[in-house]
Amino acid sequence: MSVERTFVAIKPDGVQRGLIGEILERFERKGFKLIGLKQLIPTRELAEKHYGVHKERPFFGGLVEFITSGPVIAMVWEGDGVIISARKLIGATKPLEADPGTIRGDLAVNIGRNVIHGSDGPDTAAFEIDLWFNSIELCDWTPSDQRWRVES
Ligand code: RTP
Ligand code: MG
Repeated sequence: MSVERTFVAIKPDGVQRGLIGEILERFERKGFKLIGLKQLIPTRELAEKHYGVHKERPFFGGLVEFITSGPVIAMVWEGDGVIISARKLIGATKPLEADPGTIRGDLAVNIGRNVIHGSDGPDTAAFEIDLWFNSIELCDWTPSDQRWRVES
């Protein structure tokens, strides 16, 4: 499994509900490395680009309205297989179908308020990291306990 980066965002509902710490903790405890982190209220332009793949869907307008409605926590996480693993930590899109133990399975009930976003593949991850972050906002570093997580 190769080292990858993925884009994860705590949506406005997760921020408003005080779930930032709980969500960050799950990624940290799993053993992934935080490369970028910031809070922002997304512009409509950013939200429409981010969810551009859904622009013909009936829920697109409401989705953009929601994601621009308040602060979002934008993150880049790095690690072996992090793209698929983050999606597993996040759980199914419909929270009522998400397994217990996942973020959506434990912390949400409604598809339109499902707390968190994660890139769905390598191309999407590269696109979304570039869309949300400047290169100077991304920090390459080696955690001091790295060798207890990853064989060198
Ligand atoms: P996300 O992109 O936010 O991580 O979610 P996802 O991959 O699990 O799901 P996706 O199909 O990409 O849908 C993006 C977001 O749109 C909302 N949605 N609403 N009402 C509906 O039928 C419907 N379908 C999707 C959800 O908030 C979903 O997270
Ligand atoms: Mg998606």
